[in-house]
Amino acid sequence: MSYSKEESNSFFSKDAFGPDFQWGVSNAAFQVEGAWNEDGKGVSIWDDFTHKKGKIFEGHHAEIACDFYNRFASDLELMASLHIPNFRFSIGWSRILPQGIGKINSKGLDYYDRLVDEALKRDITPWVTLYHWDLPQALQDKGGWTNRDIIHWFEEYTQIVVKKLGDRVKNWMVLNEPMVFTGGGYFLGVHAPGKKGLPGFIPAVHHATLCQGIGGRVVREICPGANIGTTFSCSYIEPFRDSEKDHKAARKIDALLNRLFLEPALGRGYPFQELKMLNRLERYMMPGDDELMKFDFDYIGLQNYTREKVRFSFSTPLLWANIVKAEKRNVPVNQMGWEVYPESIYHMLKQFSSYPEVKKILITESGTAFEDNLTDGTVHDPERTDYLKKALEQVLKAKTEGVPVEGYFIWTFTDNFEWAEGYSPRFGIVHNDHFTQKRTVKSSGKWYAEFLKS
Ligand code: GCO
Repeated sequence: MSYSKEESNSFFSKDAFGPDFQWGVSNAAFQVEGAWNEDGKGVSIWDDFTHKKGKIFEGHHAEIACDFYNRFASDLELMASLHIPNFRFSIGWSRILPQGIGKINSKGLDYYDRLVDEALKRDITPWVTLYHWDLPQALQDKGGWTNRDIIHWFEEYTQIVVKKLGDRVKNWMVLNEPMVFTGGGYFLGVHAPGKKGLPGFIPAVHHATLCQGIGGRVVREICPGANIGTTFSCSYIEPFRDSEKDHKAARKIDALLNRLFLEPALGRGYPFQELKMLNRLERYMMPGDDELMKFDFDYIGLQNYTREKVRFSFSTPLLWANIVKAEKRNVPVNQMGWEVYPESIYHMLKQFSSYPEVKKILITESGTAFEDNLTDGTVHDPERTDYLKKALEQVLKAKTEGVPVEGYFIWTFTDNFEWAEGYSPRFGIVHNDHFTQKRTVKSSGKWYAEFLKS
């Protein structure tokens, strides 16, 4: 197993994180599975969105993706060979319920049944995300996340999945990054279902917040001993200049990106005082919603990739704030154009753990994208290894200071479909040739294997 010297120095062993720390990798159904219309699967909003012209980089789609639907056993074999003990994946809602509600697709349930069993037989613990953005199109046709009925649709879907897998799956995540799927899908229009503006965004926010709590309660009811969390995207927010206006702008973006969904889940309600525009949520709130939104999660899934710098701006009414793009700040960036700033994860761990209601935090996604090249059968990606090591240094720093962080899942195992950016960004510790589906462990994956074996 050959890789460069700087990658072989395990700056500290995984033991520094303690015996209960959970190490893993994460992926998501739509980004890896392919088999988009096989074995009874229904159409999801991302199937629909990727089939629309001009939505995805170079017209890429995920009809095949990493063909994980057919290759999951060999990928799990590869995962086991790298000593990875935990695997986070998501369930494709439209594979279980092609129309989103009603008739169950037994072949869809069987697939996830086999996936769980194949992981367990290799001593890989499954961690299941119930919703990772791929809403059934049939439900979007009824308004999707803007329709309050989704709380019933999601409850029904969650019950079916947890009843089927809950005897063997003990670790659950309810939603993946509600800020991103509501913001990207219902406000900016850059993600499925491609809707824009406040009128759809506001109800989508509230209904996703309700489903966060409802999903947690359904899992708890069906699987009393389950370890239940839900995940939040977050970025460390700093003012661009040390001015009151920029500090105020930074507080608003922090409320939007880092507090909007977390605080209602903790029973603190929405951050209305910081973001007056959120008052629009009140017209969608019904008696009892504050209780419905709240849930006693066993852990919070923290997903951080970068830092943002924010300045006051007249150009964005309601927010009066703008993110200053990393490329304009003369800082190192990755293939997504995000600042490479591993210290961000420390700051977000401190921020999330400052809430007394937060019992435990797992880093359920952390990683970075670079243009990895396959040369003579190997992929040498020292920048990724360097980033992972620096991020882990920051996690250990927070842990040493008393932050209850108990896990780190790399995003992601194999390179896969990166939403609107298609297959261009490579986040994997395993290279995937998207034409031949050949997997090649990158030097970062070899480093992670050594680190986990240590
Ligand atoms: C997210 C999603 C992942 C992305 C990853 C890289 O956090 O946006 O959970 O699906 O692929 O974060 O952008």
